[in-house]
Amino acid sequence: MTAETDIDKLIYKYFAPAEDRVSQAMKYCLDSGGKRVRPSLLLETARSLGCVDDNICRLAVALECIHTYSLVHDDLPCMDNDDFRRGKPSCHRQFDEATAVLCGDALLNLAMEIVSGGTSGENYLKCVNAMFSNSGFKGMIRGQILDLAGSGSFEGLKEIAVNKTAKMIVSAISIPAIYMGLPQYRIEVFGQIGTNLGVAYQVADDLLDEQSGENSFVTVIGKERSAELLRQLTGKTVECLRKLPYDLSHIEKLALFNLRRQF
Ligand code: IPE
Ligand code: IPE
Ligand code: MG
Repeated sequence: MTAETDIDKLIYKYFAPAEDRVSQAMKYCLDSGGKRVRPSLLLETARSLGCVDDNICRLAVALECIHTYSLVHDDLPCMDNDDFRRGKPSCHRQFDEATAVLCGDALLNLAMEIVSGGTSGENYLKCVNAMFSNSGFKGMIRGQILDLAGSGSFEGLKEIAVNKTAKMIVSAISIPAIYMGLPQYRIEVFGQIGTNLGVAYQVADDLLDEQSGENSFVTVIGKERSAELLRQLTGKTVECLRKLPYDLSHIEKLALFNLRRQF
């Protein structure tokens, strides 16, 4: 994986925080110890395809900004009402609720500002489109709204995970393929890898979450079956990787890390 410090440097290449409260909140959330899974995946996949450039770096940082905003809003009292994130006070606890709402908004705007500073080109615009559509009302936000409504069943729970978690991972993995202008059938395989790995990522998150709520795999199907599902999805991820003629060993490493992760 790309070292976290490299991602940190990249973030501040495109983000110049000021002294105001919202800037400080953005910086607090961007610096609070996230694993940088999505930007690392995007950059490493781009490296495997040989297409790392300023546009790709912008897309990677923007994806982390969107992810960070989604967590700031996810923790708000009207959503999951979490006082802690990554072992530190969540944004609305460290600052206040209004600042947290605006901080999330500002991070989403920052993502748009960063990508719109890239060099245009048909494939780049397709990447921007995919990223914002995967995180929008047909993607991550759709997952969040389904989550609030309650899953009701195992199928419902998968639908939530595919949207709220996996679509951001799909962006990370398929954007380099879109940027390279690979044929659609290939881009679809990158998408399948992202979906399997993304749902696996959520199952692992639920297994780690001791206070799993109503919409957790552990609550709905139990610990044993969740662990089995995690193994199955990891297997499918690796199977899909074999269909591609590229060295994507960093994705396999992440899938195996996810299988045993403790944070
Ligand atoms: C947390 O994602 C939310 C989920 C979708 C499971 P991460 O565990 O990747 O979050 P950070 O950025 O590393 O804290
Ligand atoms: C958050 O999901 C996923 C988002 C898309 C924001 P969870 O609520 O399951 O994740 P944590 O446990 O707060 O990180
Ligand atoms: Mg939450």
